[in-house]
Amino acid sequence: MKKKIIIISVMLVILSALFITVSGSMLTMYGPDGVQTSVFPYEVTEYKAAGWYENESDVIRTMYGADGSEITVYLSEVYDRIDSGWFLNKSDAERTLYAADGTEKVVFLAEVAENVKNGWYENKSDIEKTMYATDGTEKTIYIAQIEEFKADGWYESKEEVITTMYGPDGVTVPVFLADIEEYKAAGWYENKSDVERTLYDIYGTAKTVYLTQVEEHKQNGWYEDTSSITITMYADDGSETSVFLGKIDDYRANGWHSDKASVTAAVIKGGQRKTIYKSQLQSYLNDGWVRLQDNKANPSKPMVALTFDDGPRPASTGRILNVLEKYNARATFFVVGNFAVNNSRILNRMVSMGCQIGNHTYTHPNLKYLSAQGVLSEINRTAEVIKNAVGFYPTAIRPPYGSYGDTVRKVTEQPLILWSIDTLDWQHRNTNKIVDAILNNVRDGDIILMHDLYDTTAAAVEIVVPILVSRGYQLVTVEELAACHGGMSAHRAYHSFR
Ligand code: NI
Repeated sequence: MKKKIIIISVMLVILSALFITVSGSMLTMYGPDGVQTSVFPYEVTEYKAAGWYENESDVIRTMYGADGSEITVYLSEVYDRIDSGWFLNKSDAERTLYAADGTEKVVFLAEVAENVKNGWYENKSDIEKTMYATDGTEKTIYIAQIEEFKADGWYESKEEVITTMYGPDGVTVPVFLADIEEYKAAGWYENKSDVERTLYDIYGTAKTVYLTQVEEHKQNGWYEDTSSITITMYADDGSETSVFLGKIDDYRANGWHSDKASVTAAVIKGGQRKTIYKSQLQSYLNDGWVRLQDNKANPSKPMVALTFDDGPRPASTGRILNVLEKYNARATFFVVGNFAVNNSRILNRMVSMGCQIGNHTYTHPNLKYLSAQGVLSEINRTAEVIKNAVGFYPTAIRPPYGSYGDTVRKVTEQPLILWSIDTLDWQHRNTNKIVDAILNNVRDGDIILMHDLYDTTAAAVEIVVPILVSRGYQLVTVEELAACHGGMSAHRAYHSFR
């Protein structure tokens, strides 16, 4: 019996040794979900093909959360984890962020939004800016430096450092700001308006041309300055307008005039004189005023008009007025504005005696050589002086030297009064020659030219007035003389009313 036990024991030992030998040669393999199994070595290839792994580390992955947290998962969980926002690579959960000054830092994905809110940028290009110098140089800087560069004269866009310059013929060229002065020195201009000029013809037609075309246009009747081709015209209600020379006739046809005398009327009531616009005339007449245009001449008797230029000169003019007054005679004084301006007393004496005051310009120039504006300035200045002195405008012009041209005739409104007897008193200053010139030549309707500047002339007047009166002549104003002979028209010259 004991022997049997021994045999069984030996067999058990052998069996155990066999088992140990067989089991010791088995391997542990791992499933992607971490499950373990023991396989015989000859089974390894078969198991691998079926998705088992030999090492536990092969089925374990470290994964990373967007906030940097780490977890260890089995392979089988990886895709689910990716779907729920985990990453296999740590770098996938990280972002490099950029500050406006170029500073870089690495943060977890979960921190990106907060950092962006605090001024960090996700792309490097977002913090870079190309700036431009006035000479066109480009430079890439961080956006934190923009203001600093601007302060140093850099610009954010290329368009800003390029300007368009203009040649005098209108040609354009793009120029860097830094080159402007150089281009200017070479005859280029910064503004289009600098190389353009608006020109006008005498009809007011406007035309814009380049600088290079100005001279040629000026030679062909175009003007840069409209003041040289316009005059002021007046309506009966006193309104004013600027009129191109070529349109004066059109405006006249519509009731406009180039002087105020033509749009005003002198009225008198109870010894008070007043100049009013013609549009007011009717209401003044209704109010008891009468027009100041008394013609004391008798048209059926002979008459002559003595006229005196270039004054007033109180001494000699006064002597002449004295003798006229004594014989109840009248004359016409073509005063120079320059002298009249400080002699309103003597002008008023003339008017109160029924004498006429005419316009002999302000500075006594030869009107033939003046522009339209020059002519009107000379005439209108003196007209204002006379109106200021006596209350109404003069209604006759005597051009100095008897000289006038088309311009004078065209732009003036009042008749031009010349003469039929020239005493040449200014030349010889000889009383007898003056007396002879008048008495040897005088005829009914004559206009006699003298100058009230000279004592020799005053002396001659003292002689001829009583003689003319005794010969039956009425000594009248030019206005009276004209009124008795059919009147006068504007723009015409009159030598006599014989
Ligand atoms: Ni004169």
